[in-house]
Amino acid sequence: PRILVLHGPNLNLLGVREPQIYGRTTLSDIHARLEARAQAAGARLESFQSNHEGELVDRIQAAMEEGVDFILINPGAYTHTSVALRDALAAVSIPFIEVHLSNIHAREPFRHHSYLSDQAVGVLCGLGAYGYEAALEYALRALNAAD
Ligand code: DQA
Repeated sequence: PRILVLHGPNLNLLGVREPQIYGRTTLSDIHARLEARAQAAGARLESFQSNHEGELVDRIQAAMEEGVDFILINPGAYTHTSVALRDALAAVSIPFIEVHLSNIHAREPFRHHSYLSDQAVGVLCGLGAYGYEAALEYALRALNAAD
């Protein structure tokens, strides 16, 4: 099975960006953990980060061609603005879990709404970097790849 992990804008700055909100774990730390776990379970995992909405749309469309089975996505601020990302995920019909490091419901009101959540298999927020690991465990089970 193939799993794609997508990260939206500013998540390349994890570790230095508002660490009191997002923690000290870097994106490459997160990727390394996910990669190791996926490999142990016999799944292929790829990560992609972009600060550009259209590049994320292109990556989601490419995932369909590649036969990606499951997507984990932290859309960053595009969570709250992007009909285009919502439409792309709907277009490819690949099941996805939405992940946020912070608890978006405990923050500013404009972060409370997500354009993706009602289409997601599930949403994890507020668990920090662990949220990605929990999402991956779920995906591996769903794909019957857990060891
Ligand atoms: C975020 C929450 C968003 O509101 C914010 O714009 C981000 C990160 C999170 O992981 O907590 O960039 O998705």
